[in-house]
Amino acid sequence: MTRTTRPSGRQFPADFLWGSATASYQIEGAAAEDGRAPSIWDTFAHTPGKVLNGDTGDVAVDHYHRVPQDVAIMADLGLQAYRFSIAWSRIVPAGTGEVNQAGLDFYSDLVDRLIAAGIKPVVTLYHWDLPQVLEDQGGWTSRATAYAFAEYARVVARALGDRIHLWTTLNEPWCSAFLGYGSGVHAPGVTDPAAALTAVHHLNLAHGLAATAIREELGADTPVSITLNLHVTRAASHDAADVEAKRRIDTIANEVFLGPLLEGAYPERVTADTATISDWSFVQDGDLELIRVPIDLLGVNYYSTGRVQHGTPPVGDGKPGPDGHRSSVVSPWIGADQVEWLQQPGPYTAMGWNIEPQGLVDLLLELHERYPALPLAITENGAAFYDTVTQDGRVHDAERVAYLHDHLDAVGEALDKGVDVRGYFVWSLFDNFEWAYGYDRRFGVVHVDYDTQVRTLKDSARWYRELVRTGEIPT
Ligand code: NOJ
Repeated sequence: MTRTTRPSGRQFPADFLWGSATASYQIEGAAAEDGRAPSIWDTFAHTPGKVLNGDTGDVAVDHYHRVPQDVAIMADLGLQAYRFSIAWSRIVPAGTGEVNQAGLDFYSDLVDRLIAAGIKPVVTLYHWDLPQVLEDQGGWTSRATAYAFAEYARVVARALGDRIHLWTTLNEPWCSAFLGYGSGVHAPGVTDPAAALTAVHHLNLAHGLAATAIREELGADTPVSITLNLHVTRAASHDAADVEAKRRIDTIANEVFLGPLLEGAYPERVTADTATISDWSFVQDGDLELIRVPIDLLGVNYYSTGRVQHGTPPVGDGKPGPDGHRSSVVSPWIGADQVEWLQQPGPYTAMGWNIEPQGLVDLLLELHERYPALPLAITENGAAFYDTVTQDGRVHDAERVAYLHDHLDAVGEALDKGVDVRGYFVWSLFDNFEWAYGYDRRFGVVHVDYDTQVRTLKDSARWYRELVRTGEIPT
């Protein structure tokens, strides 16, 4: 069923960058090869009960052994850019210190192949796979992890150098902090609200230190970004209490990053809302200057929206949150007591996330209004459905095509309204390991048969190829 509600035929600017995105643990496999040490996701996925069906990233889509074939698929789709992440534990297996040349060689070869195929490499340095050895020393609750990250960033910058089109320090630090250390539904599976807040600050600090290290290595004009999953939350009514509930979510999900990264301070409301949990004494003199290093672009990951009202918080009720992640012991919505989540109207994807392209328009307009000089890119957008290969050997994912169509039209609308959006990366290139959901939910525009590793272009991939070729949303 196609749900397209918006007109087609919208033309994008000629220099708009079209890409697709993946992440190391979700696609690479080869978990114990060429000197790679375990990350927190290896440990977590191998802990019974943490990931649906006991799935792990041990093999994933075996990208590590299939780079030439996978780059050929990207080239066939006409991708202009490829956003991938680097597994820290391949590069610095002990977290700090000795560098594993085999790890650098793998990514260097990938980068060379991308460039040879005319595809711009967009690197994410941290997409959630912290070396386990660093978690053993406190992980993101330890300030030393931020410094270790900067050291690793410097090593990668030196090795890949100016071949990289855009550097991204962190992907979705909200998930690392609140799902990793708050609700515990992501690695390392810690359920401690105070730890989650400490992790927020150390992730912000890690970003600032790494951005500085990259520019020290490669020059002050090296393009650096960070990717956030800013939450678009609606208040259930105009009542002051419901509006306040929304404000609390905005604060703990968005302002806790936007404030220090772009405005040089944690808003007072952040510390006030979380005063019973933490005194924020982990913020040291000089940190905020380090964190507010100028960035060249803000990466926006967008999937869905949420709705809240004043009410009893859903702590540990096991219901899916607005982002589909189930709260287990501790809600990730630390400091958001008196906030109750309401189900959004459908339609929904296989993640249970509501489909609302207008949320993307609203988010882009708001960001542009607040930070008019800051270029944006959609670094992730896409949808999971239960796709199957049909008898004709094709995957007819009409729902994904409709989702992409409507969200790209939303991007186009924001462009028309003057928002500086530079590119779009569909999540994801391949079906892959969807974190706590394992291989059950398929986000790819390319289908992967997990028994044979055969890749099959879905209809959405063909549709996207046409879009990239023409710069116009196909009908
Ligand atoms: C955001 C994350 O960056 C990515 O790893 C994940 O697969 C998608 N969202 C879908 O949940």
